[in-house]
Amino acid sequence: MEVERNTSEERADALEESMMKQLHVSAAPAQAPKLRRGTGVLFGGLTPAGLPLDLAALAPMPPRPTIVDFFKLRFMPHTVTHMLQSANDAQKKGEPEETVLACLLHDIAVNLIKVDHGWWAAQMVEPYVSEKVSWAIRHHQALRFFPDSSVGYGYPERYVQIFGQGYAPEPYIRAAYEQARKHKWYMEARMITVHDLYAFEPGVKVTLDPFVEVIGRHFKQPKEGLGFDGSPVAHMWRSLIYPDNPL
Ligand SMILES: [Fe+2]
Ligand SMILES: [Fe+2]
Repeated sequence: MEVERNTSEERADALEESMMKQLHVSAAPAQAPKLRRGTGVLFGGLTPAGLPLDLAALAPMPPRPTIVDFFKLRFMPHTVTHMLQSANDAQKKGEPEETVLACLLHDIAVNLIKVDHGWWAAQMVEPYVSEKVSWAIRHHQALRFFPDSSVGYGYPERYVQIFGQGYAPEPYIRAAYEQARKHKWYMEARMITVHDLYAFEPGVKVTLDPFVEVIGRHFKQPKEGLGFDGSPVAHMWRSLIYPDNPL
């Protein structure tokens, strides 16, 4: 049963309480995110453009997984297609094999984690590729935001969709770009961005086959398998092998 508030003091208290409640509601975010935008796509994360993907049950990996096994059994299909397309463009245009390899591997980390994917990917492959290839992969992320008319690279339309109009990259991204600009391997990273395409050539189906030999020549596959070679990055590969493990 409702008790009538008699005094003006009681009415003021009630008013204050209701205002505090309203304030609390309006201070809360409109909707708490269900998923952090940086979540890797193998772990149920959205695509960089924000699209949800269907997760399927995963086939077990062979006991000594190769990079090819990761392409076939773990990397999400749209990331594979994107990297194959980039590598195909690089190969068609006569780039050196190491550039083709860098294009083939540049976005692997998006499967694990999307935040700072260039840094993550570079670290994942560092024990297995030349220093130049991992350097290029690390820096493609920052270079994507900065045009270079000398090679016909403009700010990507896709980035306007992802980051919004007039987006200014974080200061650490700008600093990484400025550092890379002065580096002897600048063009190695820049060429990844040049071949970093999203549009498909109609009717062209790119497979991993043309790149298997390039991988063989420039990716030092550990004999114990990626994830089991005791390297400082083995756990990153294992996380992709066992993305359903609760701990
Ligand atoms: Fe990328
Ligand atoms: Fe890419």
